[in-house]
Amino acid sequence: HEEELSAHFDATIARDQRVEPRDWMPEAYRRTLVRQIAQHAHSEIIGMQPEGDWITKAPSLRRKSILFAKVQDEAGHGLYLYSAAETLGADRAELTEMLIEGRQKYSSIFNYPTPTFADVGVIGWFVDGAAICNQVPLCRCSYGPYARAMIRVCKEESFHQRQGYELLMTMMRGTEAQRRMVQEAVDRWWWPSLMMFGPPDGDSPHSAKSMAWRIKRHSNDELRQRFVDMTVPQAEHLGVTLPDPELRWNEERGRHDFGTPDFEELKQVISGNGPCNAERVARRRSAHENGAWVREAAAAHAARHAGDRGK
Ligand code: ACO
Repeated sequence: HEEELSAHFDATIARDQRVEPRDWMPEAYRRTLVRQIAQHAHSEIIGMQPEGDWITKAPSLRRKSILFAKVQDEAGHGLYLYSAAETLGADRAELTEMLIEGRQKYSSIFNYPTPTFADVGVIGWFVDGAAICNQVPLCRCSYGPYARAMIRVCKEESFHQRQGYELLMTMMRGTEAQRRMVQEAVDRWWWPSLMMFGPPDGDSPHSAKSMAWRIKRHSNDELRQRFVDMTVPQAEHLGVTLPDPELRWNEERGRHDFGTPDFEELKQVISGNGPCNAERVARRRSAHENGAWVREAAAAHAARHAGDRGK
């Protein structure tokens, strides 16, 4: 029987159809998805912090409401993704525990500081731009609930990227000091943004299997290259310099050549030693602890409601 189920799963993948929660799936496929979707959800939730810091300091009411909406979208993405993980049998409370105990990862990018308002713009442009490159192919991921969640998430990411770019365009039309602030934020975020795509292909333990299962559609290096090719003309239009002396158009390949990110730094940040790791996790932990009474009240309300229905 197991062989039949396994053959059916393989055929579903080979036909490029979706695997749904009630379908049989190999245990390793389920584990890989829970790992990736949980990390993705955690990234959205932790990702609220670097920009959230600027909500109370935004330079105008307009910027404040845009930023509010954006950070709220990220909370929505996180909840959406936790729900997708739950369809695989994961428990949301356990996933949160694992995050705050440092047993599950979240994206390296959210461990960098946001010292100026230009960082908010550059996060929208680079980080959400990188997220789009990485996540548009995930709309065709073999696991149905994750793929469907990605459709809405990508639409919102696209708004996020534009708000960042528009913010930077506005600053570039401003004073010399504002233009310098934009360039400095670009210098800070460029290399960490390239690291978001993960280790190079030769050093990416999960890629081969995830690509065979059609969870991932493109390798880490391929997506990194797409991001560079997409961003270079945007940088020219904005009037900033990307901080990579090796960056140039390669006529033969029809793509840009670029320098190698410091993957040792990526390893350090992933293993908890980035500039803001401790601060981010501590803040998440205290939010979780301070929210305990809300979860208890919601659970008590739901229990009472369930009792009413039974009458
Ligand atoms: N930050 C933190 N951890 C990373 C990063 C990163 N930028 N890149 C890779 N890793 C981790 C992997 O999670 C894996 O760790 P694990 O074995 O403990 O789970 C390890 O490094 C090895 O990497 P890969 O073999 O390349 O792992 P994988 O095949 O999962 O690819 C990738 C990594 C590309 C991030 C993939 O998981 C993915 O596409 N995830 C969905 C998108 C996502 O999570 N985006 C979050 C940021 S975008 C945003 O939220 C706005």
